[in-house]
Amino acid sequence: MINIGIIGCGYWGPNLLRNFTGLLDCSVKIVIDIDYARRNYVKEKYPQIATSSQDKDLFSDEIDAVVIATPAQTHYSLAREALENKKHVLVEKPLAMSVKEARELIHLAKKNKLILMVGHTFEYNKAVQELKRQIKKDIIGTPYYLYSQRLNFGIVRRDINALWNLAPHDISIFIYLLEAMPISVSSCGYDFIQKGIEDVVFMSLEFPGHIAAHIHVSWLDPSKVRKMTIVGSKKMMIYDDMANEKIKIFDKGIRRENIKDSLGAFDDFKKYQLLQHAGDVTIPKINFEEPLKEECAHFVECILKDKKPLTDGENGLRVVQVLEAAQKSLEQEGKNIKI
Ligand SMILES: NC(=O)c1ccc[n+]([C@@H]2O[C@H](COP(=O)([O-])OP(=O)(O)OC[C@H]3O[C@@H](n4cnc5c(N)ncnc54)[C@H](O)[C@@H]3O)[C@@H](O)[C@H]2O)c1
Repeated sequence: MINIGIIGCGYWGPNLLRNFTGLLDCSVKIVIDIDYARRNYVKEKYPQIATSSQDKDLFSDEIDAVVIATPAQTHYSLAREALENKKHVLVEKPLAMSVKEARELIHLAKKNKLILMVGHTFEYNKAVQELKRQIKKDIIGTPYYLYSQRLNFGIVRRDINALWNLAPHDISIFIYLLEAMPISVSSCGYDFIQKGIEDVVFMSLEFPGHIAAHIHVSWLDPSKVRKMTIVGSKKMMIYDDMANEKIKIFDKGIRRENIKDSLGAFDDFKKYQLLQHAGDVTIPKINFEEPLKEECAHFVECILKDKKPLTDGENGLRVVQVLEAAQKSLEQEGKNIKI
């Protein structure tokens, strides 16, 4: 039985709390929040769970693992404190606000033989796992390019921009699908509501093998969009997280075929035709489970069986490396930054 302490119970924390309390092999012992109203929420809904405003109450001997769902700027210091106190840690995305901080956390977890996991929830999403299966099975052929949109009306953050708040999901999904780090990134962002805090960010990334990627994130948009398109040499896929049929695979592609000249030889330079084909649309069946439930169960399993988490510290670091480079690019008017 793993005893858990959760810190931060605002918008996202209650989802973690609900999922961890629903698992059999762990028990949530305490929830910490500096906000009185949020502690009251916990007291009313879960009277058996202790509450406190003091982080130090997370570090009692009774607690084995700490779950951090506070604002991003606090992740590093809270995770460090927890690891120093010999607690396993699940920290919400982003793992930290710099590569240096992320590396320190990894080092500390390794040194103290503790599990460090980051909440890249979409890697536990069955639809995203299906996209990867399709790519690995070569159903769509060579990926040419992919792009995603993560848009909504709110929640407007005051502490971090839309890049650090929303793009960790898309970056983690792209790295997971392509099993590679991007080579470079260039990003532009616009701060309309609060000076210096970008509400909308457009990122262009290049992955090895001439694969292009684009990410558009915004909290200043009329509608909620969570959509990703992946175009391959044989087929194309659309993943719409808001739809019931989450993935559609389009048997569409354009083939370049050489035309034989009068002597029967191939002319590679000029004589070719572009053959367009458009076949069926397939909708793979997905046995959907709440991704956060999978993530929470995975964290507990990794502690109990001393397993490496799917989204371990290194995984969190890779996303922070991309975010840091994208932030640099934002500050240099879209300059292409090598990662
Ligand atoms: N994985 C996902 O899909 C997902 C979705 C939303 C948010 N998140 C992440 O969850 C984290 C929290 O986001 P949120 O939307 O819930 O924010 P929020 O502001 O709604 O909640 C944060 C809570 O933490 C408390 N808090 C702040 N500093 C604290 C401290 N030092 N000690 C104790 N409590 C403290 C606040 O009082 C608040 O209740 C962020 O890192 C965010 O990126 C993840």
